[in-house]
Amino acid sequence: MEKDYSKYFTPSLKDARKRLSKETDIVRYELKESQFGIGKHLKYMIKTYGCQANLADTERISGILETMGYSSTEKEEEADLLLLNTCAIRENAENRVFGELGRLKPLKKTNPNMLLGICGCMPQEEKVTARVREKFPYVDLVFGTHNIANLGTYVEQAIHSLERVIEVYSKEGEIIENIPIKRDHFKRAWVNIMYGCDEFCTYCIVPYTRGKERSRLPEHILGEVEELIRDGYVEVTLLGQNVNAYGNDFTDRSYRFSDLLLDLHRLPIERIRFTTSHPRDLDDATILALAHGGNLMPYLHLPVQSGSNAVLKRMNRKYTVEDYLEKIKKLRTLVPGISITTDIIVGFPGESEEDYQATLDLVQRADFEGAYTFIFSPRDGTPAAKYEDITSAATKKERLLELNKLVNEGFLRGNKRFEGKKVRVLVEGVSRQRESMLTGYTEHNKIVNFKGDESMIGRVVEVNITKAFTWHLSGEIQK
Ligand code: SAH
Ligand code: SF4
Ligand code: F3S
Repeated sequence: MEKDYSKYFTPSLKDARKRLSKETDIVRYELKESQFGIGKHLKYMIKTYGCQANLADTERISGILETMGYSSTEKEEEADLLLLNTCAIRENAENRVFGELGRLKPLKKTNPNMLLGICGCMPQEEKVTARVREKFPYVDLVFGTHNIANLGTYVEQAIHSLERVIEVYSKEGEIIENIPIKRDHFKRAWVNIMYGCDEFCTYCIVPYTRGKERSRLPEHILGEVEELIRDGYVEVTLLGQNVNAYGNDFTDRSYRFSDLLLDLHRLPIERIRFTTSHPRDLDDATILALAHGGNLMPYLHLPVQSGSNAVLKRMNRKYTVEDYLEKIKKLRTLVPGISITTDIIVGFPGESEEDYQATLDLVQRADFEGAYTFIFSPRDGTPAAKYEDITSAATKKERLLELNKLVNEGFLRGNKRFEGKKVRVLVEGVSRQRESMLTGYTEHNKIVNFKGDESMIGRVVEVNITKAFTWHLSGEIQK
């Protein structure tokens, strides 16, 4: 039997597009008493498919489940609750998840009590939730990005009444503070500074799946970072779809992203990073804040998307190539040596050969030290999905391959500049390639592999760089 749901609790992209008010309610999370201990002796597993916001959500879902008594497992067949935390950004991300749902079906036969659930950005799309409802009757739990805090209730309902629970909100979200977090890493932490996105780039589904822009109060963010410092964390990455719009929604104060950076700059933590920046909203105050250096890392991911003004316009990015180049020039002047990476979409509807060449040209002029590159994927409900698109799939693929070659040259050039230099590395752990090696990230966000003692894990150490490769640096520990 399925839970009775009203129309407000099924997703609607149309409703998700609405931005009704600037005010945001801040709510305190509380786990219901009846939910404590429900998961005692039970195991959970979460598979995460999306961006850092998705990873941060997984840490919250884990936090809630562990306060209910669940413990984690890495083995699918051991899981009493298996959740797929999904991403809707491109079609192939979604296809992978549908494939997984099919693959996981037999697990329900061997363990009939197992609960299988899907959450995250995909259920926010009405088509996805309808498809899961009809084609995947063995999926027990479906919830979205706005109702993670209700997870305890959903699990309780699913266990006790054996009914499917399908509930997804499209309404403008609130901010829920104090959800327990089970952090994945013991030295590096994500800290959400805002939720949602109001940019509505014409290709992008995120404003629909994550709702309106809502900034957390600075006191809550600073409080969380202070707690992390007390717990021994050395690096914090501030999260938001457009961190440069932080604070624009405050009605009672004037406090912006640059103010937050300066407040964090004063705290005794080794490293502050953030993602993602929108080039239009990246202001001088933020660049000047970064120029303070110290714990504000000399690294910026600044997605440009295209090197053609005509394409940028149709993407609704609200800046030109010239604006973009001007901003990175300022950045390089005020933060010498800063490493800049980007995101690029090829094959946007109507992208001509000339537009594409302009992107190649920009990649060279901007001197990116890395880029995530994508072929445009039409997302239902977004304006660009309806744009006329005559470029063949083969041409798009060729463009992507050629672009990647150029991007990789930038990666290597960016790494080469550290050959023979001494860098500070936050040691992450043992290298995946070779067990005798340690691996970590430099201040400029470059991966370094070097020989060292496992006791260094979690610390910042000085490493002399001996050789640069496209994807990593090799070094020797400073004696
Ligand atoms: N808020 C961030 C991240 C958005 S998603 C930002 O604005 O930068 C990460 C990247 O995915 C985007 O920068 C974009 O390059 C890519 N992307 C988003 N929608 C896409 C789509 N429909 N097709 C292909 N790539 C897409
Ligand atoms: Fe998507 Fe644009 Fe918002 Fe980034 S800024 S999440 S690309 S709509
Ligand atoms: Fe994907 Fe949602 Fe992040 S669509 S990129 S998981 S915000």
